[in-house]
Amino acid sequence: MAGYKILLDCDPGLDDALALLLAHGDPNIDLVGVTTVGGNVGLDRTTKNALELREYLRFPTVPVAAGADRPISGETRSAEHVHGTGGLGSVVLPPATLPLSETSAVDFIIETVRALPGAIDLVATGPLTNIALALQKEPAIARWVRSFTIMGGSYTRGNATVAAEFNIYADPEAARIVFAADWQVVMIGLDLTLQAQANSTVINRLRQLGKLADDLIVPLATFYVDPTMPDWDGQAVHDVCAVAYVARPDLFTVQPARVDVETAGEFTTGMTVVDFDPPIANALVATELNVSGFWAYVESVYARVAREHTVPQPSAEVPGSDQPTAGENPAAGHAS
Ligand code: RIB
Ligand code: CA
Repeated sequence: MAGYKILLDCDPGLDDALALLLAHGDPNIDLVGVTTVGGNVGLDRTTKNALELREYLRFPTVPVAAGADRPISGETRSAEHVHGTGGLGSVVLPPATLPLSETSAVDFIIETVRALPGAIDLVATGPLTNIALALQKEPAIARWVRSFTIMGGSYTRGNATVAAEFNIYADPEAARIVFAADWQVVMIGLDLTLQAQANSTVINRLRQLGKLADDLIVPLATFYVDPTMPDWDGQAVHDVCAVAYVARPDLFTVQPARVDVETAGEFTTGMTVVDFDPPIANALVATELNVSGFWAYVESVYARVAREHTVPQPSAEVPGSDQPTAGENPAAGHAS
């Protein structure tokens, strides 16, 4: 019996894909559903990526439901320059054969949390549009969840702008609604996630994991190089931290805080304004990561999945997928 039931709302996305791998691979996590949102790339591609990852990573019975293709207000943002036009960098997966849920992401979130009050750890690793729309439709989800964790925000600098982190910047109005709701938001922001850098030492260890590392994990974790940083030594696996927090909160230092979201600043729209000495806190903000413990945990889970991937999957369990013969590398497509 898994310890945690996670519903992951995401915009895959290089690090969203690595977060999905962790949520699927940790035997202590029951991934109860995946909902998609437009963000890193358009909704059509984040949803395509989620469907293909579901079959490639072999969790075919987990529902995937599509959500919002644009923010509640303002212009639609993208991070294609980071994630590539397809959203998974150079990785090209076999086409999905299993269907998308007919339920919308918003209704899937509401129905899942309502059916299991107090049991669902809701995690969001993309723009918060689906979460905000679900709160507007059914405010009680704020009480029904066991916990709510986001990758998003920052109490220092942003990455989409100097002030705003991408997930918040992509839909500031949604983020304002989410932080104003009747729950505690666990904010895993850039201040924390930039400590989880998949540097060359980590990548060299991941390369030992075999085919899944060659075909998926390493290409996802090494695709983006920041051209403005000459001493760049690897991507931060931002979204992996949000899933890791649910299963291994012992690896994180968090502090109570009040978080407000700027939605109308000329230079600061999308900024999370964090008060660590508030009269009333609405969030727990992560400040420090046990880096060695984090990678030991993540790599152990990835190694477990990689071992399973050395065993050919009987075609009956992954219907319709013309699994390539040994040596073909379905996931390493043409660099985008
Ligand atoms: O700022 C990092 C966040 O924006 C991550 O969730 C990444 O996937 C992008 O969506
Ligand atoms: Ca993301």
